[in-house]
Amino acid sequence: MKIAVSFLKSDNYKKCIEKINKTKCDYLHVDMCDGKYVEDKNFTIKPLIDTLKISTKPLDIHMMVTDPIKYIDELAMLNIETMTIHIDCNDSLKTIDYIKSIGIKAGVAINPDQDVSLLQPYLEKVDEVLIMSVVPGKGGQAFIESTLDKIDLINSFKNNYHFITAVDGGINGETINLLKDKNIDLVISGSFVTQSDDFDNAIKMLNV
Ligand code: DX5
Ligand code: ZN
Repeated sequence: MKIAVSFLKSDNYKKCIEKINKTKCDYLHVDMCDGKYVEDKNFTIKPLIDTLKISTKPLDIHMMVTDPIKYIDELAMLNIETMTIHIDCNDSLKTIDYIKSIGIKAGVAINPDQDVSLLQPYLEKVDEVLIMSVVPGKGGQAFIESTLDKIDLINSFKNNYHFITAVDGGINGETINLLKDKNIDLVISGSFVTQSDDFDNAIKMLNV
């Protein structure tokens, strides 16, 4: 299971990214909040790109935005592992195709209140399904346990397609135990790591 760290809940993104650079995590998880798809807005694109240039980790971009397509070309110059959009953003299928056409892996995210059947049109296209275990928009929320059944269902489709599964939100040293036998490929953790005194030790606790 790979680990991505989210800096959403940190006060100083640059300092936090520098600390994440020094850890053994696999990816930097970049939460983009546009103030439309989610209540908060946390970026304008050019300063965000400047901030992300300091990352030495490949980027796992999570676009909690209504119109992801308008950011893709500018972001594409960065070292990106995956770009993930939400199923209910504008032009979602077209956006997935566009991300793949420029040689970047594409992911689709599903919220806690969305039915798994909504993923059907995406499954043959995407490289990753990101299962939200909190309502998108804020770091530091509690893991929603009803996500566990959804994970089982989505994982049961894995053999027929080529996507990996990721879980995002509320993952800490305790809730990670709920995921350890779930055949998850990537977990995203934010506040548990970035609000600890020792990032590496927190990441170690996620390596169950
Ligand atoms: C939620 C974000 C998550 C979040 C993870 O809107 O997509 O990536 O920042 O942070 P924690 O681990 O604090 O829930
Ligand atoms: Zn996220």
